[in-house]
Amino acid sequence: MGFTRILFLTLLFVWAADVQCQNVKIFNVKKYGAIPGGKTENSKGFLEAWKNACQWKGKAVVLVPAGTYLLDSVKFEGECKGYMIFKLKGNVMAVSKLKDINQWITFKYVNGFTLAGRGTFDGQGHKVWPCKRNGQCQTLPISLRFEFIKNGNLQNIRSINSQNAHVSIFAGSNLNISNIKLFAPQDSPNTDGIKISSSEEIRITRTTISTGDDCIAILNGSKKTHISQVSCGPGHGISVGSMGGNTVIDNKDIVVGLTVKNSTFTNTSNGLRIKTWASHYQGLASGFTYEDIIMNNVENPIIIDQQYCPNSPCDAKAASRIQIRDITYSNIRGTSRSKAAVTLSCSSVVPCKNIVLKDIKLVYTGNEGPASSICSNVHGHSFGVQNPPSCFRSA
Ligand SMILES: *[C@@H]1O[C@H](CO)[C@@H](O)[C@H](O)[C@H]1NC(C)=O
Ligand SMILES: *[C@@H]1O[C@H](CO)[C@@H](O)[C@H](O)[C@H]1NC(C)=O
Ligand SMILES: *[C@@H]1O[C@H](CO)[C@@H](O)[C@H](O)[C@H]1NC(C)=O
Ligand SMILES: *[C@@H]1O[C@H](CO)[C@@H](O)[C@H](O)[C@H]1NC(C)=O
Repeated sequence: MGFTRILFLTLLFVWAADVQCQNVKIFNVKKYGAIPGGKTENSKGFLEAWKNACQWKGKAVVLVPAGTYLLDSVKFEGECKGYMIFKLKGNVMAVSKLKDINQWITFKYVNGFTLAGRGTFDGQGHKVWPCKRNGQCQTLPISLRFEFIKNGNLQNIRSINSQNAHVSIFAGSNLNISNIKLFAPQDSPNTDGIKISSSEEIRITRTTISTGDDCIAILNGSKKTHISQVSCGPGHGISVGSMGGNTVIDNKDIVVGLTVKNSTFTNTSNGLRIKTWASHYQGLASGFTYEDIIMNNVENPIIIDQQYCPNSPCDAKAASRIQIRDITYSNIRGTSRSKAAVTLSCSSVVPCKNIVLKDIKLVYTGNEGPASSICSNVHGHSFGVQNPPSCFRSA
């Protein structure tokens, strides 16, 4: 290789590296007027940083540096010209009364997005939970809403004391959530960890959720949801539904394709739950695999409840028309706080089909004898160890 050729290649390399670097631009919220210290409300500075970043054609990093930033309700919307990164190094704290009752922070219409950093979103829930508990406020804002976000990553952040759910994903696709932490007290009202609806290919891994409601709620329109290495508890478990609670005529609720693997539930009210309202609306829940799950002191480790009717508008005597089928529970072990460690309570009009139980080892810790199974309107098979004894004939 001649000298000129090497020189040429070196220059080409330097030029390419330079283009790559130029391609990344940082938009520090402080440069757009945000002031840390927890006293000044900063939505203007944050939005200004986002707007400018959104116009950048390369990788745009909206940076929230160390410090505590007070923030009212804000929506960070696309379409954006390049790849958007929201990097939270500091802490963002909700103002005491958020102006939008539905949301605190929303990310919307972004294709190619990362929310990262080791910072914290602090919803200041303890300031509003009393009004929820005594019925003096109706809706409370969800901390982080992701709507119409495609091809994204959500990693390393923490959300604490959300007023309502911590994270809600609507109309998302190909989103990877990893290493996040969601915390709220066990008795905080409606503080679901992650709610998913009308979304496809949402993957959640290496995540810790301790909260007052469902750790993860998989709702209508969720397809191909993958959950692994999640630690849940306290909380209400990983729940599909409630399904069939809508009142839109001719509309169906559908949840298809779900895997929950290598996850642990500790001191939760439910473990793996599927619930449908006792109502006339149709739908389908199918293609679920629950595998390698540990239950520590869980009230209802495995539960299908098709008679869910805590309050109107459902009719406790109506039978659910949601079809539940092709559900596999494999290697589920640990302790149950209730005697009925396995409850498969299906609909009399559309019985559950092809429910598979494989190696279930659940021990009841109370003093009313060994663990038991409760089954109604369910067809399936069992394989391997069955403790409690399965309702199915073993295959
Ligand atoms: C999410 O993870 C999956 C599986 O590891 C990968 O195929 C996909 O490209 C990832 N998506 C994003 C947006 O990074
Ligand atoms: C359920 O989700 C599907 C797919 O996103 C949607 O078309 C349908 O309207 C939803 N049903 C209800 C009752 O919201
Ligand atoms: C998942 O659990 C299985 C069985 O306990 C174990 O063999 C496997 O290594 C685990 N995988 C991960 C990624 O932790
Ligand atoms: C679970 O609850 C028991 C009491 O029921 C308590 O002793 C234990 O510390 C709790 N475990 C965790 C991890 O919170």
